[in-house]
Amino acid sequence: MEKIKILAIVGSLRKDSLNRQLALAAKEVLGDRAEFTILEYGDIPMMNEDMEFPTPAAVARVREAVKAADGIWFFTPEYNHFMPGLLKNLLDWLSRPMSQELRRQVLARKPTAISGITPGLSGTCSAQDTLGSLLGIVNMDVMNSLRLTIANAGQEQDKDGKLKLTVSQPFLEKQADLFLKFIDKRKNL
Ligand SMILES: Cc1cc2nc3c(=O)[nH]c(=O)nc-3n(C[C@H](O)[C@H](O)[C@H](O)COP(=O)(O)O)c2cc1C
Repeated sequence: MEKIKILAIVGSLRKDSLNRQLALAAKEVLGDRAEFTILEYGDIPMMNEDMEFPTPAAVARVREAVKAADGIWFFTPEYNHFMPGLLKNLLDWLSRPMSQELRRQVLARKPTAISGITPGLSGTCSAQDTLGSLLGIVNMDVMNSLRLTIANAGQEQDKDGKLKLTVSQPFLEKQADLFLKFIDKRKNL
């Protein structure tokens, strides 16, 4: 049987990003139950309809990666109580047709999960709400139970800033289990 393919989309380009570290922790939790890749998309341009066709190479590459995935797992920071602009920009590109001839877009009905971590108190709740709302608008199939929100990241970092999920590890494990089931159910529909 083919392994489930999960594509992680991290809403931060920061080298030491907590959300990227959370994605790597999720990869570890999934182990050999899934193929887990982090999407690199720092090179896509700002959305500009004048540039849509021919499709910029970086956009074509991320669209192919999303198309090939069985599920998309978002790891979002919170910027001013919203999802970061770079995630909105990415999703705007992904929501558009693959080419002038092929009007299909790659997001529709794709199973998704949402997680996020912040040093602050909100745990990225507000950002996740804005992201979840957008994912619904672009017809993605969002797993709302459970979403993982991690607040007070400082409590889960060692002295060098490396993420150690002392409190949240069981919740990450639970979310990974649920997401595998969520994807599996949809694959067999
Ligand atoms: C423009 C900006 C706005 C921010 N707004 C919030 C916020 O509304 N709530 C919050 O908890 N943290 C906020 N932060 C702090 C981020 O949560 C923190 O920098 C976090 O580490 C970013 O995620 P990353 O580590 O994955 O890059 C903000 C940071 C930036 C740069």
